[in-house]
Amino acid sequence: MAILPPGTPPGPGVNPHPAPRHPRLDPLADRYAARTHGMKTSEIRALFSVVSRPEVVSLAGGMPAVTALPLDAVGSMIGELVSGMGAQTLQYGSGQGDPRLRERICDVMALEGITDASPSEVVVTVGSQQGLDLVTRVFVDPGDVILAEAPSYVGALGVFQSAEARVRHVPMDDDGLIPEALEQALIECRANGDRVKFLYTVPNYHNPAGVTLTEPRRQAVMEIADRYDLLVVEDNPYGLLGFDREPMRALRARDDRRVIYLGSFSKTFSPGLRVGWVLAPLAVREKLVLATEAQVLCPPSLTQYAVARYLDTQPWREQIKHFVELYRERRDATLESLEQLMPAGTTWTKPDGGFYVWLKLPHGLDAKLMQPRAVNAHVAYVPGIGFYADGGGREYMRLSYCYPEPDEIREGVRRLARVIEAELDLHSTFDAVDTGTFRAAARPTPGHEAENMVGPANSDTYEDGRA
Ligand SMILES: Cc1ncc(COP(=O)(O)O)c(C=O)c1O
Repeated sequence: MAILPPGTPPGPGVNPHPAPRHPRLDPLADRYAARTHGMKTSEIRALFSVVSRPEVVSLAGGMPAVTALPLDAVGSMIGELVSGMGAQTLQYGSGQGDPRLRERICDVMALEGITDASPSEVVVTVGSQQGLDLVTRVFVDPGDVILAEAPSYVGALGVFQSAEARVRHVPMDDDGLIPEALEQALIECRANGDRVKFLYTVPNYHNPAGVTLTEPRRQAVMEIADRYDLLVVEDNPYGLLGFDREPMRALRARDDRRVIYLGSFSKTFSPGLRVGWVLAPLAVREKLVLATEAQVLCPPSLTQYAVARYLDTQPWREQIKHFVELYRERRDATLESLEQLMPAGTTWTKPDGGFYVWLKLPHGLDAKLMQPRAVNAHVAYVPGIGFYADGGGREYMRLSYCYPEPDEIREGVRRLARVIEAELDLHSTFDAVDTGTFRAAARPTPGHEAENMVGPANSDTYEDGRA
């Protein structure tokens, strides 16, 4: 076909607006805001359709065991709320949240040593997820650096990504965040001229790592924060779910100026009500309220009243103990079966609270590549890669024991152990001919810390270019 010069009128029978050879799938593709470019489906949401199949044992989702709640009592309580004070419960409320609930939130935080909080410093949010979003909106400009544990809560990484922040991971071990590594990261960020906006940390029963920041490390982290004038965002949804001890003293209990605290009723009562909170110094609180008003006007009245009434009238401390017993039993089932069944070279954390075990595969196996084989074997987990902003974590996976019954957990671990064994066999066969097929891109090595600085997108790139 002849190529006509531009501007040549089309001849008879020639369509003046020919369809492009590759029609765009999304005609609005070039109009989206830059901040959407790094957005992607989380590893957890991507698994939803799979894990809801009845034949699959899901060790993937972090869903609390809400069936252990006194559902009839909660149902009547909510019914009575609406019939008794409908006008208020069904009306708009204040942007900062119901004053009565904010008082009760202060009582809850006192259990973790925060005894000086005033209800005026509390902002009620739609789960702590909204709290994370608000804090990020208030503090972070594109290109700013957020320090976060490696690995980190996937929902926080999503928020940071949409704010176009750069996440710099700080390593952890069985005792939580490593203070020396935090200091090193701060020194390097200073040397690079990076604007570090805050440290994001989950000190208790970490999601996904399952570890808890020890008391000496809490002190060390706060000393470093003081020395480097670092703001700390303490995200603490699991703090009251310890199996063997009283709640640890919150970072916020040590410093009311440089710690912003995020709390939630999702794990101690119900995630479906979507009630969380932020505790922040008054000046920050003011900005948070403006940001929440711009976003949602006010948190939902009905669910706030429901939580306040629950705390006022129901035995919530006993209910938390009940949850703790149930999760302890599930944790035990997980650890015992891992111990009995996992092939040599597999290691995992031993949580003493919360919902999660963080498992490291032997011999450099890749949890993401192995996932289809696991789903075929009817067991699901979350590949570690979702919890890193820098493409790290391929040899890790998160196992959640909060939702399945102990027998299901044992069966799930048994299936998983078989999948790993089969993968090891396959791996050794391929190692023999070394096709490189199973090798993921190397993790940054100490001394190449600049490569630890990534963002805003999760990088999923393999050596051979696959995503
Ligand atoms: C560490 C952490 N932060 C925040 C959240 C969000 O919780 P919610 O919005 O339900 O309060 C979760 C949920 O799993 C979490 O694990």
